[in-house]
Amino acid sequence: MREGGQEAADAAPSEDLLRVEGLGVSYPTRQGPLPAVRDVSFTLRRGEVLGLVGESGSGKSTVLTALMRMLPRTAQLSADQVWFDGTDLSHVPERAMRRVRGRHIGLVPQRPMTSLSPVTPLRTQLRRLTGESVSDERLDELLTSVGLGGIVSRLDGYPFQFSGGQLQRTLIAVAVLAHEPQLVLADEPTTTLDVTVQAQVLRLLLDLRNRLGNSIIFVSHDLAVISQICDRVGVMYGGQLVEVAPTADLFAAPQHPYTQALLAAMPAAHVRGERLRAIEGTVSGSHRLPGCPFAPRCPRATDVCRTEVPQPQQIGATTVRCHLPGAA
Ligand SMILES: Nc1ncnc2c1ncn2[C@@H]1O[C@H](COP(=O)(O)OP(=O)(O)OP(=O)(O)O)[C@@H](O)[C@H]1O
Ligand code: SF4
Ligand SMILES: [Mg+2]
Repeated sequence: MREGGQEAADAAPSEDLLRVEGLGVSYPTRQGPLPAVRDVSFTLRRGEVLGLVGESGSGKSTVLTALMRMLPRTAQLSADQVWFDGTDLSHVPERAMRRVRGRHIGLVPQRPMTSLSPVTPLRTQLRRLTGESVSDERLDELLTSVGLGGIVSRLDGYPFQFSGGQLQRTLIAVAVLAHEPQLVLADEPTTTLDVTVQAQVLRLLLDLRNRLGNSIIFVSHDLAVISQICDRVGVMYGGQLVEVAPTADLFAAPQHPYTQALLAAMPAAHVRGERLRAIEGTVSGSHRLPGCPFAPRCPRATDVCRTEVPQPQQIGATTVRCHLPGAA
């Protein structure tokens, strides 16, 4: 995808499909601007599945919607760079971004009901999402391929006439299969589904990756699923990406106290399907703290943690944002 915007100097395709540097998003609130995402940087290799975990409100969905440039109009977006397949998306005009959405980057939204209009027939909305190049026959074919052949004859109905699971699978089929984008952003794509359909959806995403070599950012609260399907995992807290590591390293030797607490609070029998709820206290208010956002809940916190934002540092293959990283 090399259209509009700033081009990469090197012509050879890089191993990295996506390189995000210094991403920030702030929402206006009655208490002043809320920095929901702060200085987030990461890379995603071609064909890689990156998991994104973190408590509710830590900024996961905001990162995905910022990458798609689909934030609410009032939100303030800043980024040093968002390189995607040779183009810096942080500089392309909205017109070019419209060609990227759906075609090169597909988003599976967190809440299918709220991302669809209740007053427009489903078929019309799916046609809009897939673009005019996708015929009705192709749309029916896509849905049939994900086991939704039964709803094809009802597509002229309204979203409320379908179950949440059917809508979620429909949006996944559209985001993933209509244009087979190089990057799929999947925001808790299986949370509303029963276990059998969850497995189908995960297989669909992974089959696509295996067939086309595309990359996936997979947001989930389900650490069991994360450990099974992700190559690397990023942990978010208070708007920051506090640890990124290969999956095996993250589960075997987490470096950040928040990651450690998260894993320690997950007895294996209860991992699947649980919302993340690890440690005493809440993430609320952490976005505006001057130092480390985790300091009020961290057993290791010192004075420097409360005044200085920890910068990312490398420990083996792990990147961690903590003044005192290491084994618990
Ligand atoms: N439109 C908005 N206006 C104001 N604040 C917002 C808006 N959207 C999100 N926020 C705030 O930004 C922060 C990050 O929200 P976000 O939805 O990205 O979190 P999340 O990690 O995806 O949470 P969840 O796991 O519940 O989906 C939260 O504090 C949230 O309240
Ligand atoms: S920087 Fe300090 S407060 Fe933050 S996680 Fe590390 S030790 Fe804890
Ligand atoms: Mg979310």
